[in-house]
Amino acid sequence: MSVADVAVIGGTGFYSFLEDAEEHAVTTPYGDPSAPVAVGTVAGRRVAFLPRHGKEHQFPPQSIPYRANLWALRSLGVRQVLAPCAVGGLAASVAPGDLVVPDQLVDRTTARVGSYVEHGATHVPFADPYCPRVSSALAAAAPDVQRGGTMVVIEGPRFSTRAESRWYAAQGGTLINMTGAPEAALAREMQLCYATLALVTDMDAGAEGDDGVGQAEVFALFKQNLERLTGLLTAAVEALPDPDGCTCATWAEGIELTYDLP
Ligand code: ADE
Repeated sequence: MSVADVAVIGGTGFYSFLEDAEEHAVTTPYGDPSAPVAVGTVAGRRVAFLPRHGKEHQFPPQSIPYRANLWALRSLGVRQVLAPCAVGGLAASVAPGDLVVPDQLVDRTTARVGSYVEHGATHVPFADPYCPRVSSALAAAAPDVQRGGTMVVIEGPRFSTRAESRWYAAQGGTLINMTGAPEAALAREMQLCYATLALVTDMDAGAEGDDGVGQAEVFALFKQNLERLTGLLTAAVEALPDPDGCTCATWAEGIELTYDLP
């Protein structure tokens, strides 16, 4: 029986979501997840919560146990994942405080294990990296949520130079962050429906003033918007449609996977 069928992976500044949660200490073939998985009830659904950076923010973006995290969630029965995150803005269409559900991703990370495939041929389709159904539920959760845009994911943990930032913007990037990859691709390999809700905390170095982007600004803006974000996620959980038949879960039909699913 499934322990939870929906999960929220909390990002920077977002370390708890559920009241009266029970904790599940899951171990995986890929090591321990970022934290024990908390499970509670939201809008009548059993929801798992995992703080991506750990409860004490001990995992920087390049050291997050991404594979263990997605594996742990699936092992509890999760099928749909909502992944809020803090992002910088690259385009004039966004501003600090905006909430965006991106529909594309550019992976500029360089040193992360980005797949469960360790031998043989399993090539996951990833043209559309986010689940359309979960994206719709997130976008419908509040009238001011923007839908669409390209999120550039950098290795970090440093912020970008002004030249890098302007280059990403010139290439069509809308948002920039450090954790959206390989998380989205691993979710697809785990056959999970996955979408991101991005909170713009700053305009990246290309558009910022003299001091560029700093951590304090990012954390402060996230803190100010935490209640709004949790309210929106609750509404999105309530609005989630049935995952049955979604292509996020059916892409592997007829393909012999070269890795195990829990
Ligand atoms: N997360 C929040 N703001 C960011 C930025 N400007 N660059 C990368 N990751 C971020």
